[in-house]
Amino acid sequence: MENPADTIKRIKASMGDSLAILGHHYQSDEVIQFADIRGDSLELSRKIDSLDAEHIVFCGVYFMAESAATLSREGQKIHIPDTTATCPMADMAEAGRVRNVLDILQKNGRNIIPLTYVNSSAAVKGVVGEYGGSVCTSANAKTMLAWALKQGDGVLFLPDKHLARNTANALNVPEDTRIILPVDVIDGDPALHVDPALVADKSFIIWPGYCPIHEEFTLESMETIRANEPDAKIVVHPECDPALVAAADGDGSTTFLIKYAEEASEGATVYIGTEENLVNRLTALYAGKKTIKPLMAHQCEDMGKITVEKLAQKLLTLETATPVTVSDDIKEPARLALQRMLDVCA
Ligand code: 13P
Ligand code: SF4
Repeated sequence: MENPADTIKRIKASMGDSLAILGHHYQSDEVIQFADIRGDSLELSRKIDSLDAEHIVFCGVYFMAESAATLSREGQKIHIPDTTATCPMADMAEAGRVRNVLDILQKNGRNIIPLTYVNSSAAVKGVVGEYGGSVCTSANAKTMLAWALKQGDGVLFLPDKHLARNTANALNVPEDTRIILPVDVIDGDPALHVDPALVADKSFIIWPGYCPIHEEFTLESMETIRANEPDAKIVVHPECDPALVAAADGDGSTTFLIKYAEEASEGATVYIGTEENLVNRLTALYAGKKTIKPLMAHQCEDMGKITVEKLAQKLLTLETATPVTVSDDIKEPARLALQRMLDVCA
């Protein structure tokens, strides 16, 4: 029986340009070696428009495939090798609750602009598009928050409370204008958990979601490194707690972290606070030249659900597989929200 890697190579060769495989940086080495395009969330969304392939296979998590389906052209089919690979942070904001919160915030005629991190469902992006808002990624959050702050009377940033606060800190959004919504809005009825009196005078309102992987990184781990290796640099993803971002030598998207490792001088030691697959790849890439280490070892289980076996199986069944779709009523406003980001950051 043919092994999965050979199956992938054979099908890629036979399909040529009618197949494109996209891979997020958090994918394992075994999977990402087959990606025609690899990148962070922003880079991958930008590529969709320029792809002519009939079949686009997204090696990443479900919201990424949904964004691709939202931005894809008529006739293109988007696939993901495992539809259960979802992002737990994206799952912390449900579209109906986001709409309810916006309705509470808009009381008294206030125009609150929603800005959703790309790690959110297409349904949430649809609500955001309807309410005049947009999308951001970790690579452009500052630009997009500056944009959103100019559009109305305030901003609802969702779902990541850490990215929200890190971005607000970078733009000097005053502390007394901010509020983090109670964690109960993630699963409960916003009407019971959002006090209109408490949010009425706040102009930077933060959804209480977070990434369970980046949430694990601790300030203590950084302090130990600083004490033992004072020359080492530490950079983190902005999904980490603001205390870590403040104590780090830099923060940014996965592409920023890759570039930081690339530009570090020979002999340098760099600790990277993000998903382990990416850091391990950089460790191997620079072995013998510079030392790249994970700040702490944490893998995203959902990214890890995409395996070579599942990729091969998906390619074998492309013609009959049900592609990832976004319903028409969501697609238009979600596309509008994504397109606003692509236009602002063009
Ligand atoms: P990037 O936008 O940096 O690719 O990150 C996406 C993500 O899921 C980080 O956890
Ligand atoms: Fe979601 Fe965190 Fe995994 Fe990124 S690392 S896909 S934010 S759970």
